[in-house]
Formats: sequence, structure tokens, C-alpha cells
Amino acid sequence: MESLKPEVKKEAKLKAKLDPAKDYTQDKDCVGCHVDGYGKQGGYTVDTPSKYLTGVGCESCHGPGKKYRGDHRKAGQNFEKSGKTTQRKVLVEKGQDFAFEESCNACHMNYEGSPWKGAKAPYTPYTPDVDAKYKFEFDKMVKNEKAMHEHYKLDGAFEGEPKFKYHDEFQASAKVAKKDDKKGKE
Ligand code: HEC
Ligand code: HEC
Ligand code: HEC
Repeated sequence: MESLKPEVKKEAKLKAKLDPAKDYTQDKDCVGCHVDGYGKQGGYTVDTPSKYLTGVGCESCHGPGKKYRGDHRKAGQNFEKSGKTTQRKVLVEKGQDFAFEESCNACHMNYEGSPWKGAKAPYTPYTPDVDAKYKFEFDKMVKNEKAMHEHYKLDGAFEGEPKFKYHDEFQASAKVAKKDDKKGKE
């Protein structure tokens, strides 16, 4: 959201033929990729700016959490009580998203002439034609520590497909969370 404010990132805006003096924070052609859950129930709307959820939110990558949150809790309890694991399939049925590359593409690869088949307006102004640095390489980007959140060790309550291809790698170097600040997405 910060980037949509006037006078912020002037040079980058000029490069993409945007107007650096303009306030884009209410612009329907921009906010969809720059805030969490735009156009979805419970997320950001232009009409209710008090509900701004700035930045790229959890649900842009993990899917809407309302339905699967309870399953995390239940699976965690079962695992703690009796060591019983739960299939990730259960989470997918409740809308949790494990197809991270598709999620990223919906914002990063969404431009005219993109090799990504799902591209449709409104498009991102930042394409590899504007500058080669805007080329999106999933395997590199998903490990970019500046853009991605840190990873925390999970207890192993879930198993089975779809398992994210870097799951084991991320878990191997994940931090140990204090019991009470677990966010419980998986
Ligand atoms: C389809 C999704 C999408 C839409 C729509 C979109 N953006 Fe973005 N925007 C992105 C992504 C992804 C990046 C990050 C690009 C990168 O750094 O590789 C970005 C980056 C930016 C940046 C920072 C560039 C930099 O180099 O620091 C600015 C400024 C920006 N967008 C402004 C806008 C404005 C203004 C609009 C509306 C006219 C808009 N965006 C619409 C996805 C989008
Ligand atoms: C809802 C849209 C959206 C989704 C989904 C999304 N991004 Fe982004 N991403 C952005 C925007 C917008 C920026 C630029 C923010 C800014 O500069 O204001 C950005 C910035 C980045 C950057 C920093 C680029 C740079 O050079 O500074 C990386 C890396 C990145 N995203 C990786 C990812 C990965 C990996 C995924 C998927 C797992 C992903 N993003 C999903 C919108 C999105
Ligand atoms: C840009 C995409 C993106 C965003 C935004 C995002 N995540 Fe993640 N998240 C991931 C990826 C990729 C993984 C790794 C999945 C795996 O290892 O199976 C992950 C893993 C997790 C995990 C599992 C444990 C871990 O640390 O690896 C939890 C919990 C989690 N995310 C919670 C959240 C919460 C809460 C938010 C919002 C505050 C959030 N995520 C925002 C992409 C994202």
C-alpha cells in the first residue's frame, strides 16, 4: 500500500509511466494486488478505508482462513493427545491453498503478454519489459527473506499431499516458536 501513495517510489513510477504525484491508494486498478483480500468478503474495500489491511496479507497466499482455521486446532489437539496425524487434503477441502506458485503469479505474472495463462486486467505496471529486475522467478523469489515471512517449526500434525516442494527445506532451517505464539496455519 505504501507504494501507492503520492511521492513514494517516484523513480519507479516514472519508469512504468505512472504519475508520481497521483494518489493511487483508492484506485481499483492498483489496490487488488497491493492489499489483502480486496473484493473478497471480510477483506479490504475502497468504500471502507478503515478496514485497510495493508501489504500482501496471509490470505493472498494461504487462501481465506475462516474455514480451515478450526481444522488446524482440531488436528493439533489430536496430535498432541494421541499422535494421530491429519491429511493435508482436509485443509484443501476447506480452502487452504498450497499452490503457492499460482498465488504469486496472480500478482507478479499478471500482465499483457505474460507467459502465465491466467493473466487478466487489471495488470501490474511492473513487467520485465519495464526492467529486467521485475522478472518473476518463483524458485528464487519464494526463498527471498525480505519478501517472505520467516518459517517456524511445525509439530508434524499434518501429512500427505499436497506437500509444498520446499516444505522440508523450510522446516529444516525453521525457528522454534514459543507454544503460545503459534499462528496455526498448518
Ligand atoms: C496484478 C497485480 C498488480 C496490479 C494491478 C498493480 N500492481 Fe503494483 N506491483 C505489483 C507487484 C507484483 C509488484 C512488485 C514487482 C517487483 O518488485 O518485482 C508491484 C510493485 C509496485 C511498485 C514498486 C515498484 C518498485 O520498483 O519499487 C509501485 C510503485 C506500484 N507497484 C504501483 C502500482 C500502481 C500505481 C498500480 C495501479 C496503477 C499498480 N501498482 C497495480 C503488482 C501489481
Ligand atoms: C496480492 C498480490 C501478491 C501476491 C499474491 C504475491 N505478491 Fe509478492 N509482491 C506484491 C507486491 C505489490 C509487491 C511490491 C510491494 C511494494 O514494493 O510496494 C511484492 C513484492 C515481492 C518481492 C520483492 C521484490 C523486490 O525485488 O523487492 C518478492 C521477492 C515477492 N513479492 C515474492 C512473492 C512470492 C514468492 C509470492 C508467492 C509465494 C508472492 N510474492 C505473492 C504482490 C503480491
Ligand atoms: C507471499 C506469500 C505468503 C504470505 C503473504 C504468507 N505466507 Fe505463510 N507461507 C508461505 C509459504 C510459501 C510457506 C511455506 C509452506 C510450506 O513450507 O509448506 C508458508 C508457511 C506458513 C506456515 C507454516 C509454518 C512456517 O512458518 O513455514 C504458517 C503457520 C504460515 N505460513 C502463516 C502465515 C500467516 C499467519 C501469514 C500472514 C501474517 C502468512 N503466512 C503470509 C507463503 C506466504
